[in-house]
Amino acid sequence: MSDNKPFYITTPIYYVNDVPHIGHAYTTLACDVLARFKRLDGFDVKFLTGTDEHGQKVEKSAETAGIDPQAFTDKVSQNFRDLAVSMNFTNDDFIRTTEERHKIACQDIWKRLIDAGDIYLDKYAGWYSVRDEAFYAEGELEDKDGKKIAPSGAEVDWVEEPSYFFKLSAWQDRLLEFYDNNPEFILPLTRRNEVTSFVEGGLQDLSVSRTSFKWGVQVPGDDDHIMYVWLDALTNYITAIGFPDTDHEEYQKYWPADVHMVGKDILRFHAVYWPAFLMAAGLETPKRVFAHGWWTNEGEKISKSLGNVIDPLELMETYGLDQMRYFLMREVPFGNDGDFSRSAMVQRMNGELANDFGNLAQRVLSMINKNCDGKIPEPGTFSEDDTALLAGVDGLLEVVREAMDAQSFHTALEKIWSEIRAANSYVDRQAPWTLKKEDPDRMKTVLYVLADAIRGLALITQPFVPEAIGKMLDQLSVGEGNRDFVSFGKAGRLAPGTELPKPEGVFPRHVEEETAA
Ligand code: MSP
Repeated sequence: MSDNKPFYITTPIYYVNDVPHIGHAYTTLACDVLARFKRLDGFDVKFLTGTDEHGQKVEKSAETAGIDPQAFTDKVSQNFRDLAVSMNFTNDDFIRTTEERHKIACQDIWKRLIDAGDIYLDKYAGWYSVRDEAFYAEGELEDKDGKKIAPSGAEVDWVEEPSYFFKLSAWQDRLLEFYDNNPEFILPLTRRNEVTSFVEGGLQDLSVSRTSFKWGVQVPGDDDHIMYVWLDALTNYITAIGFPDTDHEEYQKYWPADVHMVGKDILRFHAVYWPAFLMAAGLETPKRVFAHGWWTNEGEKISKSLGNVIDPLELMETYGLDQMRYFLMREVPFGNDGDFSRSAMVQRMNGELANDFGNLAQRVLSMINKNCDGKIPEPGTFSEDDTALLAGVDGLLEVVREAMDAQSFHTALEKIWSEIRAANSYVDRQAPWTLKKEDPDRMKTVLYVLADAIRGLALITQPFVPEAIGKMLDQLSVGEGNRDFVSFGKAGRLAPGTELPKPEGVFPRHVEEETAA
């Protein structure tokens, strides 16, 4: 067992009624970037993703597809596994809620809630949205064209059936106290305020079982009921680490989770219901729920009916995987809504990846290749300018770490790019191509400083654009063993005399194909 500090990060588990789209790719990408960063920073990371396969919505989709739900979920769940591979995600596990280990976990948490006296049998009469898999109070709904519509825009149906209820109303004060004691449980802070006002407004008991369909986990001891899909789905986070065996090595190590990453639409389930279920079951609550914003496409809401769903595979093919990863993490302050546009995508990849970073590396490595025998040159004494550049890059680890710990991915990239720009101005100021004739020894020092600055910049950018940066580090002959943050800064400085392979650009420019007029 490793002595490294554990770090447990989860994505929502995705409904399998849909093919994967940009929203799914986005949530998991954010987790992947953080998981990679933490691993490089010496943490023992568990990164979990998976699929949410029960409930009425999935049952209906299977029915429409004309196959039984199990065969349907087997098929569609695979699309999400494939997406993870295509996006170069480094998840350590992929959970499916139809797995036996998960059913056992759900039934156990149910029994704990019953034993605690927090579940009772009654009758539900109210509104339900199959699309959101959520119950809505009359007051939350709007009338539109004679139909009742949920705040999310989804249609609702009137449901009347026997149901078990969770005594959520009894948890209001304890939840508010919990938020008070854990000011960073919900991030960003604006979202935290929304949740606390919602809870302050009073909580109703929550229906946690259904009887009108069968596709779900059986309620222990009552064959007529299946568990509400959200109670089932949320439990995945502990199933994957061995629950109900709370002595399980992984449960002991990884629970409570460090970050549940979710979209803003599913914050209430994670920040209100989940901690209440856990507290009632006598289990620890997660340390943080971070709610990110939603993407629109060229200014429009993304929806199947508008036909403007963004296919991550298509983006990858058109612009490149690392380019897409970079864009999604850089374009929008993480937590805010954002707009995807092709022109913004091209601007970022050409301006920031190809020009700022790619050209810097290519220029420096080519000069070393031509003028230093293709070997890391021996530096002389460092000038103030040299020391300042290296100090700026060396200082990145601390600032980027702080940004990553706040899930402020765009800030991390901003800080890195400000040092990339500093390195570019240093090149212009030092003009190594002039030094080549006038002072070749000084040229070597300048190229050494630049090569090591690029090494630092590359190391810290790895989580965002892993493939391209892997190539950049190959070109600097930085071995696999010297790519984690132990080697960051002084500890891993390049050794003069190290042979370098022939340099090649790692960030291609995107040139728009001419469109016929
Ligand atoms: N199955 C539930 C989650 C259960 S977790 C215990 C679910 N699944 S989902 O497939 O509908 O959505 C998964 C994620 O995709 C959510 O975090 C949601 O915010 C995100 N997105 C869906 N569309 C999106 C955008 N247009 N933009 C950004 N993210 C969006 O909810």
